Amino acid sequence: MPAQISPSILAADFARLADEARAVDGADWLHVDVMDNHFVPNLTLGTPVVEALSRATGTPLDCHLMIEDPDRWAPQYVEAGAGSVTFHVEAAAAPVRLAREIRAKGARASMALKPGTPVEPYEDLLPELDMLLVMTVEPGFGGQAFLDIMLPKIRRTRQLIDKHGLEMWLQVDGGVSADTVERCAEAGANVFVAGSAVYGADDPAAAVRALRTQAEEAARRTSAG
Ligand code: DX5
Ligand code: ZN
Repeated sequence: MPAQISPSILAADFARLADEARAVDGADWLHVDVMDNHFVPNLTLGTPVVEALSRATGTPLDCHLMIEDPDRWAPQYVEAGAGSVTFHVEAAAAPVRLAREIRAKGARASMALKPGTPVEPYEDLLPELDMLLVMTVEPGFGGQAFLDIMLPKIRRTRQLIDKHGLEMWLQVDGGVSADTVERCAEAGANVFVAGSAVYGADDPAAAVRALRTQAEEAARRTSAG
């Protein structure tokens, strides 16, 4: 699968969200960080903003729910127009049931792991998911430094996906930039969230294209090597 870039609107101007979404028209997804001030110590937006964004852009929405009780709230994000809904396993009461419900409602189901959460206990659950998100910072804020120590977990996750012959995607989120995207791609990630690296650039659309090229070349080098 070609590398996909999902710019995070957490780093965009919230007063001009429609324009900011259109500024990255060539992106594969638009990453929408939902925070509830309980699961993480920050508060962002909810379903009304997701609904408005889905009307304002043709780019599919990749909703990352950093919230308590996703079992209750995640399905509403599918109804609000999300094409992919990611819940945190640390917050989910019944991750398999929830993933099935998200899929049944018509979105891609994805599960996120905080940096301290290992992937191995969830090996049997992977076929229920369309994507696994390995966080490369502690969730809650944009602009944090990439945690290099997550690279072995990305590699182990890639090995588990390949071992089971799964088509599921492997996403990384947090500190992904021109300096770090290649290491993530070499480790096996294929969906890259980038907030400050895209919206902090003079030309966000060009930053998206550059990150995608870097990721694809790194993946090609790795599979050739
Ligand atoms: C952090 C969010 C990220 C954040 C990434 O909790 O989940 O999506 O926006 O921002 P950068 O790319 O600036 O680290
Ligand atoms: Zn995110």
